[in-house]
Amino acid sequence: MEQAGQDDGRRDVRADGRADDRADGSADGRVRTVVVTGGAGRIGTYLRRADGGLAARGWRLRLLDVTAPDELREDEIAYTADLSDEECRDALDGAMTGADAVVHLAGIPTEDTWTRVRRANIDGTYRVLESARRCGVRRVVLASSNHAVGFYPTDAQAPVDAAPRPDSYYGVSKVAVEALGSLYADRYGLAVVSLRIGLCTDGPGTTFDLGIWLSPADAVRLVHAALTGPVGAAVGAAGGATGGAAGGAAGGGQVVAYGISANTRAWWDLTSARALGYEPRDDAEVFADRVVAYEGPPGVLGHGMVDTDPHAATGRRP
Ligand SMILES: NC(=O)c1ccc[n+]([C@@H]2O[C@H](COP(=O)([O-])OP(=O)(O)OC[C@H]3O[C@@H](n4cnc5c(N)ncnc54)[C@H](O)[C@@H]3O)[C@@H](O)[C@H]2O)c1
Repeated sequence: MEQAGQDDGRRDVRADGRADDRADGSADGRVRTVVVTGGAGRIGTYLRRADGGLAARGWRLRLLDVTAPDELREDEIAYTADLSDEECRDALDGAMTGADAVVHLAGIPTEDTWTRVRRANIDGTYRVLESARRCGVRRVVLASSNHAVGFYPTDAQAPVDAAPRPDSYYGVSKVAVEALGSLYADRYGLAVVSLRIGLCTDGPGTTFDLGIWLSPADAVRLVHAALTGPVGAAVGAAGGATGGAAGGAAGGGQVVAYGISANTRAWWDLTSARALGYEPRDDAEVFADRVVAYEGPPGVLGHGMVDTDPHAATGRRP
């Protein structure tokens, strides 16, 4: 259901800024429209920041969430829909029609029961990709997670092109998100960027977080790069092949990119993110004297998620 806001035509913006902070959502300086699912959530709110969010880079935002955002900017439109529910199709297509791109953030961002994770994260992503295909939205940015590879050790650089090693049902759902992105790139020629986001918060809390933090401002830079950067070149940089028959011919393809800031203690490979044009500017190290010592499971990328009880929220056993 469309909730509020206006969509009163396009406006031109200047296109003379630096690559990652310029005020153009596209090379021609035209304002483009992006659907942000999960727009009421934490990262969605960062992307909406008036002082340098996606709008400042020339994007007009349509927000879709099961929860309405507190306040809307004048140029935002909000839609409410539950992506777990097949009935969301009309609202989803309403948001997607005429849009240039979609950033899919909506979902359960932590461990939970298999059924809840599957319905929100896997079924929800399928519905977003199907709607993008139906409505001709050819650029898709998917929120994956480091938990897709959470059982890889932390004593080597986290690989971008190795087999998944999920650390939880949540991690499995993010592997499925990436697989769905790959399918829609190869089968339908969509350009898909799956972002394995680290910890995107106002600031890191533990010594572990100093390696995996993604600042709010860098999150905007990363998503803007994922919306505009050359997917084919990024696929090559990640060591993969560009899309399948349909994907390659249509300029599509899927690339996986890690999403962290320029952290001194980082051990993730940002090659594909940088190939998209991402230039992180923040470093978690400035918080080093304010964080607490990490005391979770040692040696694995997935840190605390690896021993999180998926049934804790319900108190029931399957
Ligand atoms: N924040 C991080 O550190 C981090 C790290 C890795 C991955 N991610 C991923 O990024 C995305 C956004 O994370 P976040 O931190 O903003 O989470 P969040 O919980 O703050 O926001 C998620 C939003 O999705 C909405 N949502 C949940 N289920 C929905 C459904 N069925 N239909 C419609 N909307 C639904 C929620 O209402 C919420 O507003 C998630 O997919 C998460 O898994 C986040």
